[in-house]
Amino acid sequence: MARTRRPLIAGNWKMNGLGADALALAKGVADGLGKAAWNDRDLLVCPPATLVMAVAQAVRGSAVLVGGQDCHAKPSGAHTGDIAAEMLRDSGAAFVIVGHSERRTDHGETDAAVRAKAEAAWRAGLVPIVCIGETLAEREAGRTFAVLAGQIKGSVPAGATAAKLVVAYEPVWAIGTGKTPTVAEVANAHAHIRKELGGVTAEAPQVRLLYGGSVKGDNAAELLAAGDVDGALVGGASLKADEFLAIAKAVQRG
Ligand code: 13P
Repeated sequence: MARTRRPLIAGNWKMNGLGADALALAKGVADGLGKAAWNDRDLLVCPPATLVMAVAQAVRGSAVLVGGQDCHAKPSGAHTGDIAAEMLRDSGAAFVIVGHSERRTDHGETDAAVRAKAEAAWRAGLVPIVCIGETLAEREAGRTFAVLAGQIKGSVPAGATAAKLVVAYEPVWAIGTGKTPTVAEVANAHAHIRKELGGVTAEAPQVRLLYGGSVKGDNAAELLAAGDVDGALVGGASLKADEFLAIAKAVQRG
């Protein structure tokens, strides 16, 4: 069956990247995409805020998209150290990750805060990638589906459409650990997420759902082929252009 949702492979560089090396990484991705024999998928890199503008300039003219890793809910004001969605947009970003588990844990971000950030992204003309996912304790307690349902209800704003929303399923225990759920578990979780999204938007069947957590070049093909998986949110493996491109290449043609 032909794909109805355009695959999206997103790299979350997290708090990594300095100057020339970071720009070389961005250029490496853009050059690799330029040489690739496919143009049926989106590639996105999300550098730290300090590099968004320079990376956007470095990939200009290529099909590589740029995103931020977080934004504040407000457009401006007395919020020292924070970054407004409008600032990301002004720097060349088209997307922003919101509610990553590291933000939820390190900065105590609640579902309500994440939802406000997603709304801020819309206000600025950015597409939010809303991250959800259960902890190991929640999984072991058999609460995975309930947790995901709660996070969707709490973090995804009303008014979501397929063009304005991406959801990333990132089991917390799979992030940076080398552990992944089985392909069947990923497919089941994504099917559940899509069903729950149906309570928020009539366009749930068209919303792109990414899997994230220890995606690498050698496990991407099977994870990306799982039902209802429309791409990946990649951490560590997005810091090497070759590895990131190998993951992007693993998307099967529609
Ligand atoms: P890793 O790919 O390093 O496990 O990180 C996943 C992630 O958190 C992407 O947002």
